[in-house]
Amino acid sequence: MDGNGRWAQQRNKRRTFGHKAGVDAVRSAVRYARETGIESLTLFAFSSENWKRPAEEVSVLMELFSLVLKSEVKKLNKNDIRLKIIGDISGFDSKLQKKIADAEALTASNSALTLNVAANYGGRWDIINATKRLMTLANKGELNIDDVDETSFGQQISTYGLPELDLLIRTGGDHRVSNFLLWQCAYAEFYFTETLWPDFNEDMFAQAVEDFAQRQRRFGLTGEQIMTQDIEPKAC
Ligand code: IPE
Ligand code: MG
Repeated sequence: MDGNGRWAQQRNKRRTFGHKAGVDAVRSAVRYARETGIESLTLFAFSSENWKRPAEEVSVLMELFSLVLKSEVKKLNKNDIRLKIIGDISGFDSKLQKKIADAEALTASNSALTLNVAANYGGRWDIINATKRLMTLANKGELNIDDVDETSFGQQISTYGLPELDLLIRTGGDHRVSNFLLWQCAYAEFYFTETLWPDFNEDMFAQAVEDFAQRQRRFGLTGEQIMTQDIEPKAC
């Protein structure tokens, strides 16, 4: 979700005004995902690197996160949406940690859509965290070196249990991953748009999905194999 700051600056407003406008775009993205039957939507809200931003901006982002959790959780629950926060939760103050735990517990058994909010998240952190968990199992004698493979590693990554990442959308015009879902994006399709996040509406989301639907995903196979043989293409 990139481009909030520039969206505000174009309107001669403070960057934080853009973050507030970005919350409306989050609402429409969640609505679109829920209505169209997307199983899982992950939003990159706050990276592990975002702490280095000016203190005032960080504090507005934390406040917004907390406010939105409070105001939206009931609605998410009513709509059968499961909320999960992925990232290093221990970096947040204890009140926010409690709100996160309560929201996750309330929505834990919902199944129409899983909404992951990546907060204090980094793809490298996710990989290191999974490695630590595997090493803990090994230290306890519950895992051998030969058992380390994509399946056992995948069981320790933050998005375990969710479908493969199909489509990664980045708004705001930059063509990079910025430490988002590094492990998960191995076979993802990328979609980049100049649109700044607060302007990213349901039609634009639909356009991205339409573009994705036109692509041939080969997962290492040849185009001919995909077209002519009865091979089920899969990431793993
Ligand atoms: C993304 O918008 C939102 C967050 C990181 C929370 P930016 O704040 O990065 O907006 P730009 O890139 O400066 O326009
Ligand atoms: Mg940015």
